[in-house]
Amino acid sequence: MPHIVVFDSGLGGLSVLKEVRRACPNADISYVADTAGFPYGALSEQEVVRRVLATFQAVVARRSPDIAVIACNTASTLVLPFLRASHGFPFVGTVPAVKPAAEQTRSGLISILATPGTVKRDYTQALIAAYAAHVDVTLVGATGLAALAEAAMRGEPVDEQALRAEVAPVFVERTGRRTDTVVLACTHYPLLLDYLERLAPWPVTWIDPAPAIARRVASLLAGQVQADTSAEGTEALFTAIPDGRAALADLLAGFGLASLDALPLAITRSAP
Ligand code: DGL
Repeated sequence: MPHIVVFDSGLGGLSVLKEVRRACPNADISYVADTAGFPYGALSEQEVVRRVLATFQAVVARRSPDIAVIACNTASTLVLPFLRASHGFPFVGTVPAVKPAAEQTRSGLISILATPGTVKRDYTQALIAAYAAHVDVTLVGATGLAALAEAAMRGEPVDEQALRAEVAPVFVERTGRRTDTVVLACTHYPLLLDYLERLAPWPVTWIDPAPAIARRVASLLAGQVQADTSAEGTEALFTAIPDGRAALADLLAGFGLASLDALPLAITRSAP
């Protein structure tokens, strides 16, 4: 049975995990969250790299993955080369779906809703230059949206006014045209899709890359001879376990994650 690690800074990667599980129903999955470092969107590039590398060091000390999914745009736009150089298994990243958005738009106005970190990345700028030079791109780095998604996932009341304010800049009207396609370039945001659809001033196509990522994982695993890792099970490993552990464990169980354990890191959090 193949063993897949799905990684994010928090609960956002669950939007990817759901699709990976659907595409690879027989795989063992470890969902790994660097909750001690959340939110990554506010961290320096150096700090994101340091934290992700330390997290994977801790992961491989416990497990031997066949493949890892970096279900975090803020991390993927930076750390994939470092991870690939350090480990012998493949990594699938999650990066802003600029290409499909630029292909699908009819109005020629697309928006990329991401974290402040992803918006600043050279990688994101390079994607826009390569695939969306012919369309009008609005980049929005939402400062609090990932935290709002975490709250919603935990069943806490969602501050809709704050949510509306975070999302408002993606809706652009220019010379009689309107934004018609929005890239959800943070894995937390598809978890808010019901709210996003309701709060949108006009309907748009929201692009969630998770199904494409899951297809890529399935194709990389196809035909691969797998060691028997069935004893490893399906688990969640968090670098910090928040208050309300029982409710969190219930939430994770809803995603098929049977246990929740701490994954202590050999580093401490430094100032952003
Ligand atoms: N879920 C992450 C992403 O896809 C980032 C959230 C955060 O830690 O700021 O970018």
